[in-house]
Amino acid sequence: MISRPRGTEDVLPEEVGKWYFIEEKARLLSWQYGYREIRTPIFEHTELFDRGVGDTTDIVEKEMYTFKDRSGRSLTLRPEGTAPVARAFLEHHLEAKGLPVKLFYLGPMFRYGRPQAGRLRQFHQFGVEAFGSPDPSLDAEVIDLAVAFLEAVGLKRFRLLLNSVGCPLCRGEHRERLLSYLIPLRERLCPTCRARLERNPLRIFDCKEESCQQVVASAPTITSSLCPECREHFHQVQGYLGLLGIDFVLEPRLVRGLDYYTRTAFELVVEEIGAQSAIGGGGRYDGLVELLGGKPIPGIGFALGLERVLLALEAQGGVPSRDLVLDVLVVQTSSLLKDKAVTLLKRLRAAGLKADRDYLDRSLKAQMKYANRYPARKVVILGEEEMSQGMAVVRDLASGVQETIPYDRIEEHILKAEEGDN
Ligand code: HAM
Repeated sequence: MISRPRGTEDVLPEEVGKWYFIEEKARLLSWQYGYREIRTPIFEHTELFDRGVGDTTDIVEKEMYTFKDRSGRSLTLRPEGTAPVARAFLEHHLEAKGLPVKLFYLGPMFRYGRPQAGRLRQFHQFGVEAFGSPDPSLDAEVIDLAVAFLEAVGLKRFRLLLNSVGCPLCRGEHRERLLSYLIPLRERLCPTCRARLERNPLRIFDCKEESCQQVVASAPTITSSLCPECREHFHQVQGYLGLLGIDFVLEPRLVRGLDYYTRTAFELVVEEIGAQSAIGGGGRYDGLVELLGGKPIPGIGFALGLERVLLALEAQGGVPSRDLVLDVLVVQTSSLLKDKAVTLLKRLRAAGLKADRDYLDRSLKAQMKYANRYPARKVVILGEEEMSQGMAVVRDLASGVQETIPYDRIEEHILKAEEGDN
């Protein structure tokens, strides 16, 4: 038997209702906040991520699904959505219609990590990206949307960690301070951090190795090197979050695992789901569009990992679900009535009802069991005796109430009863 690849998941019909539920909330809220959906390809030119995400990040160094296609081009399954959305923004000149351009996406991402609870090789993100404004109130809006989504899906306990990682100007100064702190401690760093020390010392903050974490604990933080403009921006972001009533925790060691961030960086965490506690993260990336060959257009966004959101909801008492409940199952008591069942089913569906029938010529009892298990709200029973007078029985499965209705008017009757229920 062939099984699914490691680190991937099947969403079975019983579970898909949860996905409908959270995806619907994501779409609805995004629209309410003025974000429109964008769909980009699942794979991109590898160079987009090398440049966009940064070639000294864990994602690019160790986690990408990169392959050559038949003509020898290097392609990569997208490990994240920001670089692809920025690429599409540029490629289609979306700025031409006026800034800001506010976009959202839902879809699978791919990272080759070691699978564990909450860490998959194919996972799904709900993300937003807003291009064209450096205004700190936009940072607050983006964070507000992430928080509103988590609240809308029913998450009760989560924390928002907030930091500013500054601009290239403050980062230059910070780099020097950091290097003079780190170089004497070089031997205590893991091999990866040692190797990328000079190229990207900030990455050490993101390293999970115990030895590196210890070194980082007393390292100078970027927040203490912010230039006056970045400091003011950060101050204002906090002010707007206060206005919106959003609680946050300042986390000066939060740097995020991708290189494009400038200024605001944030993460949403839920302790109850174990080591992979970040259910989402984001921040500003004012240099990304330019880095990809466009004008210097600022941007900010977030992405939430939907599997982790579902894990968090389960840890906190369950996930609401949009389940498929059938309005009506058509049951026939004799194979002579099959034509009547087939045409009635077509009529019920044409009337907008969710309807189905038994395809196995089972006994009445077995069909009723099937209706209960489906589950269905009502069954229509076509019996020879009633049908000889042009009638059929409609039974409500919850109440057990049964009525005899003209065969020609069954859909009308069921629709009317449903209106009454609502
Ligand atoms: P990220 O922090 O790399 O940011 O990923 C965002 C979220 O995706 C994580 O917090 C986590 O919930 C989920 N995630 C990441 N990797 C995995 C995995 N292997 N298995 C399950 N879930 C995972 C970004 O991707 C940025 N593009 C976010 C962003 C948008 N920044 C600005 N705009």
